[in-house]
Amino acid sequence: HEKYRAFPVIQKLDRRWPGNTIEQAPDWCSVDLRDGNQALIEPMTVEQKQRMWGLLVRMGFKEIEVGFPAASQPDYDFVRWLIEANQIPEDVTIQVLVQARDELIERTYEAVAGARRVVIHVYNSTSPVQRNKVFALDKQGIIDIARRGAAKVQSEARKYPRTEWVFQYSPESFSSTEVEFAVDVCNAVIDQWQPSREKKAIINLPATVESAMPNVFADQVEYFCDQVNQRDALIISIHTHNDRGCAVAAAELAILAGADRIEGTLLGNGERTGNMDIVTMAMNLYSQGIDPQLDISIADDIIATVEACTNIKTHPRHPWLGELVYTAFSGSHQDAIRKCLAQQRADEHWDVAYLPIDPQDIGRSYQSVIRVNSQSGKGGAAYLLEQQLGIELPRWLQVELAQPIQTLAEKQQGEVEPQQVLQVFRQHFMSRE
Ligand code: KIV
Ligand code: ZN
Repeated sequence: HEKYRAFPVIQKLDRRWPGNTIEQAPDWCSVDLRDGNQALIEPMTVEQKQRMWGLLVRMGFKEIEVGFPAASQPDYDFVRWLIEANQIPEDVTIQVLVQARDELIERTYEAVAGARRVVIHVYNSTSPVQRNKVFALDKQGIIDIARRGAAKVQSEARKYPRTEWVFQYSPESFSSTEVEFAVDVCNAVIDQWQPSREKKAIINLPATVESAMPNVFADQVEYFCDQVNQRDALIISIHTHNDRGCAVAAAELAILAGADRIEGTLLGNGERTGNMDIVTMAMNLYSQGIDPQLDISIADDIIATVEACTNIKTHPRHPWLGELVYTAFSGSHQDAIRKCLAQQRADEHWDVAYLPIDPQDIGRSYQSVIRVNSQSGKGGAAYLLEQQLGIELPRWLQVELAQPIQTLAEKQQGEVEPQQVLQVFRQHFMSRE
């Protein structure tokens, strides 16, 4: 993303931990409008979907799963609006989800007719519990569903030659499936599609329910990448959920294990505990000096849009974007931040204690970094005064000011606003003149 690439922190940051780490951004696919939407108490209206779409495009997503149009009329209508109102930029590809069932596949193609380029994402479940209890099918029965679905996707595509089709297959519940069997199912699909280096297919490996440590998932992905047929003709995609709270970690380790692409949502909305949070992973990359190829500088726009479309508030301590994550109340932290900020040069790599990135890089100001309550020592109030009045207090006066500020904070049992610091300063010191 041009705007993001221009950010100085990209050049400023050291690669301090060389070695086994991600070196470049994966391909991203947002599933906010599908997986995120299907988990909401009140699914998004078409207007909310339009707003979310606008944000995703502004952020620079190039692949966006826009719904399950064969299963939902609002999804169908939204996809038609995207195409008929010419809302899809040249460099953005829409993706639609469909179960491996003939009539649903036919309806899906009708929904996306006229689009320039589309990822048709077909899936069926493969895990033992799904095979035995939900579908009452043996392994061969599951392979047959996948192969027939793949064949149908291919034959329908031929009816719409003006669209560029990309095929994607997910063995749903991959991480709970015997990995050798997951390879067999996917090989059957690949055998049907015959992808090539020039025309790759996407194989998407979901942790539909996260049920093991992230390294176990990464081992499954690594085994899969080694064993699957025609690896060079595939884009290996990862789709993790957050049941154990490790969806981002699992996605990151899966990239190290050989995957190319990540599906997830903004701030982690999605089924149960959510999908993996693309914003967190993108910011993790950014903080290591890697351009995430997504624009997170519009953090407040991201939060406002996600909240308006999902009716879910962002936790104030949400990684990277929460309201409080660049704020220090404790005295020793404030003191360290103040000293580091005073020494930070614009052309040097960011190196400020307790602040892993420059808050300005995501559109936040330094004003909210230091806030004062009863935990704060002399540094916080002095910093606020410097900002408010441009007054630099000598050390002895900082020490004297700290006491009445702390008394006030304890009395009101909460935060002392900058205006109150000013008032206390005036009362106690300026009236003596
Ligand atoms: O979590 C999941 O397995 C899914 C699939 C449909 C990809 O959302
Ligand atoms: Zn999912």
